[in-house]
Amino acid sequence: MLPIENTATSPLTGQDFDHQFCEDVLTGLKATPKYLQAKYFYDATGDELFQQIMNCPEYYPTDCELEIFTQQTKALAKALIADGSAFDLIELGAGDAMKSTYLLRELISQQADFTYLPIDISGHVINFLEETLPVTLPGIKLKGLTGEYFNMMGEAARISPRRKVVLFLGSNIGNMPVAEAEEFCLELRKHLSAGDRVLMGVDLKKNPHTVLAAYNDAAGYTRRFNLNLLERINRQLNANFDVSKFEHYPTYDPETGSCKSYLISLDDQKVELCDETVTFRKDEYIFMEISQKYTVTEANQMGVHAGFKPTVNFSDSRNWFLDTLWLAI
Ligand code: TRP
Repeated sequence: MLPIENTATSPLTGQDFDHQFCEDVLTGLKATPKYLQAKYFYDATGDELFQQIMNCPEYYPTDCELEIFTQQTKALAKALIADGSAFDLIELGAGDAMKSTYLLRELISQQADFTYLPIDISGHVINFLEETLPVTLPGIKLKGLTGEYFNMMGEAARISPRRKVVLFLGSNIGNMPVAEAEEFCLELRKHLSAGDRVLMGVDLKKNPHTVLAAYNDAAGYTRRFNLNLLERINRQLNANFDVSKFEHYPTYDPETGSCKSYLISLDDQKVELCDETVTFRKDEYIFMEISQKYTVTEANQMGVHAGFKPTVNFSDSRNWFLDTLWLAI
């Protein structure tokens, strides 16, 4: 695990960061309907709460994808090695690279000719990987890239002409609404050449109770995780949210596959932040986060639409999560 720190935010620090944070929060809370940006969930407390969510019995996505990476490592490696030509393995939003480490170890043991290029917005994450991976995975060729995904993919193409294999794991694509996810896949394809590959992690539609429970754990960590963003705004932006006047409301719609988190204002109330006042009507909601679920067919249709050919589906034993391998055509 990464040492707890402010990982998922921009490279800005101190005053600049707070200024941007302030602006984004005000924009979101003055909009109709109100929203907050999910990237701000992850301060030190948010990181800790998210660790707790991942350890909850109800939160299945991490376990499912870990099962794929530990139980199907050889098949995954074989599919990425393909014709055996040298490649760059790019991971978007690498984080602590916990799941990919299994794959990297297998690729090294099969003497695959590859360089690992983790991309993350957090320099802290990249430094951590550059320090630890050569120790845990002796012989790894590695170059970390700090910045926005597509800027850094451009950089990766400039520094090496080798074929690319991109990992986009976890709930990353799910944290975009469908239209945005489609747009993202098109943009991803534009940054690749024919013959390149993408391993895309997708959480699958399943029993609605199972999905909803994962975003509404009985121990209340998800609730606290959502409310922590209001507390973070209090701490960092001198705001005065009364968090007891907001209620966590998670929903899952089996028809659309959209799992969404909201905070509902329990009263008419005013909140001061960044020298401004924001008003909430009773029952007004703040939209916090989407986690979109797909069927295997829907996921692969998105790949086809973006100019890929889906080649292999890797799923866990319960068929709850999919890592699908797309070939750029
Ligand atoms: N975004 C991740 C997911 O969709 C993490 C997460 C889990 C999350 N529970 C959450 C984000 C609740 C916001 C609110 O699985």
